[in-house]
Amino acid sequence: MTSSVSIKDLSLDFGSVTVLKNLNLEINDGEFLVLLGSSGCGKSTLLNCIAGLLDITEGKIFIKGKNVTWEEPKDRGIGMVFQSYALYPQMTVEKNLSFGLRVAKVPQAEIDKRIARAAEILQIQPLLKRKPAELSGGQRQRVAIGRALVRDVDVFLFDEPLSNLDAKLRSELRVEIKRLHQSLKNTMIYVTHDQIEALTLADRIAIMKNGIIMQLDDPTTIYNAPRNLFVAGFIGSPSMNFLHGELVNREGRVAFATNDVIFSLDGYNAGEALGSGRKVILGVRPEHIKVNEDLGPGAEVHNATVDIEEPMGADNLLWLKHAGHTMSVRINGARRFSAGTPVKLGFDMSLASLFDAQTELRI
Ligand SMILES: Nc1ncnc2c1ncn2[C@@H]1O[C@H](COP(=O)(O)OP(=O)(O)OP(=O)(O)O)[C@@H](O)[C@H]1O
Ligand SMILES: [Mg+2]
Repeated sequence: MTSSVSIKDLSLDFGSVTVLKNLNLEINDGEFLVLLGSSGCGKSTLLNCIAGLLDITEGKIFIKGKNVTWEEPKDRGIGMVFQSYALYPQMTVEKNLSFGLRVAKVPQAEIDKRIARAAEILQIQPLLKRKPAELSGGQRQRVAIGRALVRDVDVFLFDEPLSNLDAKLRSELRVEIKRLHQSLKNTMIYVTHDQIEALTLADRIAIMKNGIIMQLDDPTTIYNAPRNLFVAGFIGSPSMNFLHGELVNREGRVAFATNDVIFSLDGYNAGEALGSGRKVILGVRPEHIKVNEDLGPGAEVHNATVDIEEPMGADNLLWLKHAGHTMSVRINGARRFSAGTPVKLGFDMSLASLFDAQTELRI
């Protein structure tokens, strides 16, 4: 697959503070790549480096095979959409869309064609004669996307484009952005701290922490096989259940022991040999724990007590007490339990994650 954006050994310092260090990233042609991480981890900084809004300290950036490290933003073949729409308040939507093209002396017929196309894709034809003050937040963000769209660029950069919108608009526009990518097939690099946006939009997610990419993978792999404890805890809501314990030998098979209870690890697909005595952390997602009648015949049974339930409509979230741990379990919303009810739990180890307690890396 050809590379659309290629980042080699990129470092960026703000004065004495290093925000990005030796970062490498290859983004494929037509790929939707999401940069995900908590506030301050360096997502916007990385995006601004790609856009050319920041001078990098070290490294190289290539777009479509061309070294653009020292090119002006306007010469990089990118279109950018920010969280704040930054529209010109005194201009109509149409003028906002055409402004950059007029400055670049694009012929009027071509401008008209591109605006008509963008307006159709984003369904903003009826708004073209209005000014930004006469638009809703979602409509303004659509115009901001349109402004990137008319530039006819290879790569779109989005920096939290939906975070100023209310929850309903955000999920609507999220679907529209996905549809936009499906029809345009451009390369898109999208910054967010919202894991649902990342999981739903991305071909691949780069999860960042302190300027370092902790894992770069497709959403399914990130969700099911997190490479380290940080990624495991960052993705999923409520978070994966983590049990601290150690590997033990039980009748010739390796098992997991914590607080005097032992879990069979049969079915766990370890990437390396499991030696007893090793301190480890077992991670199990709330929806991968079976309750009562869902346990198959012959399953290893663990006894727990319902502490509290949080019915959420489609799902019901149970908080359980089990061997001194608090555990969350997601079950069908129709199944209800009152506090204090004893329940039987089954753990599907083929879907679990095991981490070394010291390195925090997946085993
Ligand atoms: N101009 C600057 N001068 C000094 N430090 C900066 C500057 N811009 C950003 N930083 C610092 O660099 C780090 C990364 O910032 P960045 O804006 O990339 O974070 P982010 O991941 O986009 O976070 P958020 O989700 O809050 O937008 C932060 O610690 C921030 O304080
Ligand atoms: Mg940011």
